[in-house]
Amino acid sequence: MVNTMKTFHKLIFGDAENMKEIEDNSIHLVVTSPPYFNAPFDYPDMFESYEVYLGKMRRVAKELKRVVDEGRVVCIVCDDTLIDGKKYPVVADLTKIYIEEGFTYRDKIIWIKPEGYIRISRRSGVILQHPYPMYFYPDNLQETILIFQKGKFDYKKIPAELKEKSKIRVEEYQQNKWYLTTWNITNVLPLKNRLEEGIAAFPEEIPYRLINLFSYVGETVLDPFMGSGTTNKVAAMLGRNSLGYEIDLELCEVVKEKMGLKQSSLFERNYEVEIIVREDARCLRTHLQEKIRKQRSVVKNAKSETGKTVR
Ligand SMILES: C[S@@+](CC[C@H](N)C(=O)[O-])C[C@H]1O[C@@H](n2cnc3c(N)ncnc32)[C@H](O)[C@@H]1O
Repeated sequence: MVNTMKTFHKLIFGDAENMKEIEDNSIHLVVTSPPYFNAPFDYPDMFESYEVYLGKMRRVAKELKRVVDEGRVVCIVCDDTLIDGKKYPVVADLTKIYIEEGFTYRDKIIWIKPEGYIRISRRSGVILQHPYPMYFYPDNLQETILIFQKGKFDYKKIPAELKEKSKIRVEEYQQNKWYLTTWNITNVLPLKNRLEEGIAAFPEEIPYRLINLFSYVGETVLDPFMGSGTTNKVAAMLGRNSLGYEIDLELCEVVKEKMGLKQSSLFERNYEVEIIVREDARCLRTHLQEKIRKQRSVVKNAKSETGKTVR
């Protein structure tokens, strides 16, 4: 459904642990996906250690507690990260952090991707080479959407007219099974020449469902880890205002493209976008991509030397 209401989008390049541009209790919904801790094919060595990563996540959670309005919801798309055969329990640790920072743990949805859309390591083949016990490593088809709430929501505060304008389309809710704790949604593969190349972007369907389910038309949605700006684009489509933070200034052009700022439109755009570049913005992508390329060629060489699959 395309919206006709004029909306405003403030996209800030800088570190989300400081959201000084946002007033206390002014955000109605957060939809985000934090960096996957040092994931080999997205953010190799981005954080010095797992503790440093969790420290950053906690400081962002504290800022979210300040800016999110009473009763409102924070949705975090995340997954445990596998590095050198060891899993880091990101989902459990984020859950603990958000509870400790004062949010209520409201729900958990498992996002299931179709088979054939795996973009990281396919580990299940090991058992084909070694069909014996202890060689089992399943392929990962899921991510988690954690849903936290700040205090209690006052349903009486919402005027009847706004409720009506923001009504959820029940046929879509039923047909696409939004009502389950498992959502089957095709993911975005960050393929070459795609806008999302080198960005662990989520599909529009995720913010589409969450924005419909947890915010009213004209309200403000925040993504503290904006990436390519998927949440902000969908917010505009659904008549919500948005704010976004992204540390990597190299994504600015991608965000502009996704927000439709690069196309000369024959029609008047029904949303305004302001881009702010702060002093703490950094340039990361080129460096990370270079590291990933080197890593891939090491894996390739190892494969051809040993003739075996390298995990
Ligand atoms: C998983 S991606 C988000 C992708 C996004 N959902 C999309 O659809 O494009 C996480 C993003 O967080 C950014 N990031 C990492 N640390 C950050 C920080 N401290 N503040 C703001 N952004 C940060 C990364 O550069 C990356 O683009």
